[in-house]
Amino acid sequence: MIRFFEHYSLKDYNTFGIDVKAKYFFECTDLEDLQVFLSSNKEWRTEPFFILGGGSNLLFQDDYNGLVIHPNVPGITRIKEDRQHVWLEVGAGEVWDDLVEYCVNSEYGGLENLSHIPGSVGAAPVQNVGAYGREASQFIETVNGLDLQTLEAWQIPTEDCGFGYRDSIFKGKLKGRFVVTSVVFKLDKFPEFDLSYGVVEQEVEKLGEATLQNIRKAIIQIRDSKLPNPSVIGNAGSFFKNPVVTNSVVGKLMAEFGSMPVYKINEIESKLAAGWLIEQCGWKGFREGDAGVHEKQALVVVNHGKATGQELFQLSEKIKGSVKEKFGIELQREVNVV
Ligand code: EPU
Repeated sequence: MIRFFEHYSLKDYNTFGIDVKAKYFFECTDLEDLQVFLSSNKEWRTEPFFILGGGSNLLFQDDYNGLVIHPNVPGITRIKEDRQHVWLEVGAGEVWDDLVEYCVNSEYGGLENLSHIPGSVGAAPVQNVGAYGREASQFIETVNGLDLQTLEAWQIPTEDCGFGYRDSIFKGKLKGRFVVTSVVFKLDKFPEFDLSYGVVEQEVEKLGEATLQNIRKAIIQIRDSKLPNPSVIGNAGSFFKNPVVTNSVVGKLMAEFGSMPVYKINEIESKLAAGWLIEQCGWKGFREGDAGVHEKQALVVVNHGKATGQELFQLSEKIKGSVKEKFGIELQREVNVV
């Protein structure tokens, strides 16, 4: 199936709910349709273009004056199995949380801690989504897609994906060159649980035994108690990354801010909690017009209704400025600003 529109509203295609328009919008449900579209319409190759997945990590500042490509490939297929593992090929257009639910119901372990993350399967490797001690990359075997330079199908094994904290080659070197059409996940039939993050173990214990179902339930409870549901309040999850700094910077900051949360990575570096830094600057629950900061998680910028992309961007700039001034730390956006 393909769909093509001109001057098409993207309001329902970004979880901030920003009402901008794409000059051209192309949606397809398989890789061949995209190959045919791009090769038979050579003029598209000269238009600026943008690849839109689930739109859950995006802030549009303005109308998009080019071609928006929305690969909406469906399907969850079991392609291989052995005694320990099962391999699923999942279309980029599948809803991420539907995949997690499917895995939990099928007793396939791995993704349960990543329950309720908004967005599509295709965006998961780009962003290397993560939460509560797990990252998607731990369970990705290959990322399949289309090379927009050669218009050939391309399968990229996980070791070549450059996965890091909320980072991958798809955000870096291959940005604008590669469209994800499906992802192959390798999941465990005899899962090892990871309950190590924060209150996860405690919440699971309240529900009884540690099972995939109970972990999913506990994670959903923890997430929903802090993070706003994008279908109720526009948001894109964490707006900034948690900054990684050297331990000597940590030492200096701790001398002044003794209660600051610090997650040691190794002897050289640690990660700080951006949400804590932002809260200390007084932003938690802030609202100006319809642009705001979530009242329970200061790392989440929210659209209470009619905020524009520019208003939200300006707010994020002010937040960055105040964290820089108070702590000397340069926050980096996690959200992709277009
Ligand atoms: N904190 C505050 N004030 C706040 C927010 C957090 O003091 O307003 C403190 C908390 O008390 C805690 C620490 O900061 O001590 C960490 O908070 P939390 O456990 O809520 O996690 P986070 O570091 O703020 C990260 C991810 C989330 C992910 C959670 C759980 C990033 C940028 N964010 O948030 O991911 O769900 O951990 O693993 O790494 C996302 O990427 O969109 C996202 C929501």
